[in-house]
Amino acid sequence: MENSCDSSAEQAMEKPVADGCNLTITGFMGTGKTTVGGILAERMGRRLVDMDEQIEADFGKPISQIFADDGEEVFRQAEARLCQTLAGESDLVIATGGGALVSDDNLQTMAASGPVVCLTAGVDTVLERVETFEDRPLLPGDREEKRRNIETLLLNRRGAYGRIPLRVPTDDIDPEAVAERVLDTLAGNSEIAEMTRITVPTPEGHYHICIGEGILTHAGRLLANRAVAKGKAAIVTNEDIAAHYAEVLSESLQKEGYSPVLCQVPEGEAHKTLATVQNLYDQFVAAELDRRSPIIGLGGGVIGDMAGFAAATYLRGAPFVQIPTSLLAMVDASVGGKTAVDLPQGKNLVGAFKQPVVVIIDPEVLAELPAAEFRSGLAETVKHGILGSPELFHQFEGKGPANLTQMIADAVRVKVDVVIEDPFERGRRATLNLGHTFGHAIEQVSGYSLRHGEAVAIGTVAAARMAVALNRCDAQTASRIEDCLGRLELPTKASGLNLDEVYAMMFKDKKRSGRMLRFIIPQAIGDVVIIDDPGEQIVLDALASVLT
Ligand SMILES: NC(=O)c1ccc[n+]([C@@H]2O[C@H](COP(=O)([O-])OP(=O)(O)OC[C@H]3O[C@@H](n4cnc5c(N)ncnc54)[C@H](O)[C@@H]3O)[C@@H](O)[C@H]2O)c1
Ligand SMILES: [Zn+2]
Repeated sequence: MENSCDSSAEQAMEKPVADGCNLTITGFMGTGKTTVGGILAERMGRRLVDMDEQIEADFGKPISQIFADDGEEVFRQAEARLCQTLAGESDLVIATGGGALVSDDNLQTMAASGPVVCLTAGVDTVLERVETFEDRPLLPGDREEKRRNIETLLLNRRGAYGRIPLRVPTDDIDPEAVAERVLDTLAGNSEIAEMTRITVPTPEGHYHICIGEGILTHAGRLLANRAVAKGKAAIVTNEDIAAHYAEVLSESLQKEGYSPVLCQVPEGEAHKTLATVQNLYDQFVAAELDRRSPIIGLGGGVIGDMAGFAAATYLRGAPFVQIPTSLLAMVDASVGGKTAVDLPQGKNLVGAFKQPVVVIIDPEVLAELPAAEFRSGLAETVKHGILGSPELFHQFEGKGPANLTQMIADAVRVKVDVVIEDPFERGRRATLNLGHTFGHAIEQVSGYSLRHGEAVAIGTVAAARMAVALNRCDAQTASRIEDCLGRLELPTKASGLNLDEVYAMMFKDKKRSGRMLRFIIPQAIGDVVIIDDPGEQIVLDALASVLT
């Protein structure tokens, strides 16, 4: 019979694995074969066979006992027989034992029945993962002995694993993300197989924040991987952004069987209103979008907030995809599921929590972002460093982050951690407002001549000064914060603003809790606390110190 299960067959583009073929997941112990196999089986609607489990069931005893009673040779023979049996079946996802495909015969057998993917991991990852397992016949002893055994085994098996062309690294990522990588690898999409994925758990499951240079051209694929229904897909954006990126996005969607519909909104915060959302609904209805049609926000935070609110409400909820294009939207607005529009009475007064199905961050799009907008986003990025990533903050103090992908990923992780802990903003999430109590008021009183990020930078300096005045933080830390923002060419002082006016404005802010003023202040880099109502003089002094 012809081998019709060759993984390079064109049909692999349509389905990760062609009908009738098996998918075999192999790799060293601790790489997550069974867990990842299980996720893939569920995604693909296939049955998972875990070879070790099957052999244990056949022998009626654990593998360690088979090794002890019958010897490794008997176990390996059983493995070879099982490979033959499984290769004769179809549409399975097979998780092999760690040593099963070391035999070239077994590998050939499995490869003839469909693609074989090898999961890989470094020694430290393996050691960490196997420490929680018991019953590893090949890994007796204490930690050091285990490490030596893992190193030796990995070395011995390197040649065998090296024969498998499809390889997926599993270090530092969770099984869900590994499963996605496997699917991308099968589809031949190395660019998205290698991107950074951050998994965000939600009440309904989870979604991924994908970060990687050039991944906008694979957006369609990323939607398809998340099982977003093929058919019409709304791209919500404005004219400027559409001019740069709508075509690339549309092409990538079309390639995967989506029919993109461009839904434009006017540029600017002034249009983040119910009237604009109403206009979006009209465009959705005219395009006959149904409740399975994805609504994709392509733009800065203004577009993301509005597209998200429209997706939360249109037909009581349609799938929402975030493609943030400003730095602020990447590290802040697109993370956490909050969406909103403004009312004449104030900003973000009407909104909803709406979790996206996927967030796609392509740092390459920042090339077109005006420099002042980029700097504004940097203020929020530094803020995330101060409140949760000393390492990121140190990088800003030093040579700067290695690249944009790493910088964005580190900042996103800080927000994700906070949001996971407090999805509905009942506690710790307030810490994300570091610099914002002062910042919002300064932004407003400046008549928006200061950008949000610029005002937040000034507000962060004021918060640090307040922390020093309250003996919560040493003066050196406060200076480091100020210097760091200054080095990034962000303002640390505002000129020409009236102290009393700014102070009064702080009380109007909707984020005040009750009648108290709430501040987030740093105690150290990476450690902030919430302070309610520190006293009028303390607030006035901190504020006066940043107004000239
Ligand atoms: N939902 C949340 O959790 C959350 C958090 C923070 C901020 N926000 C909201 O985000 C909004 C601010 O977002 P923003 O700073 O991105 O402002 P924005 O959306 O207005 O974008 C800033 C400007 O940059 C342009 N732009 C964006 N990406 C571009 C690109 N790649 N190339 C060229 N031009 C580009 C936009 O068209 C706009 O003119 C506010 O409305 C704020 O309320 C929401
Ligand atoms: Zn902000």
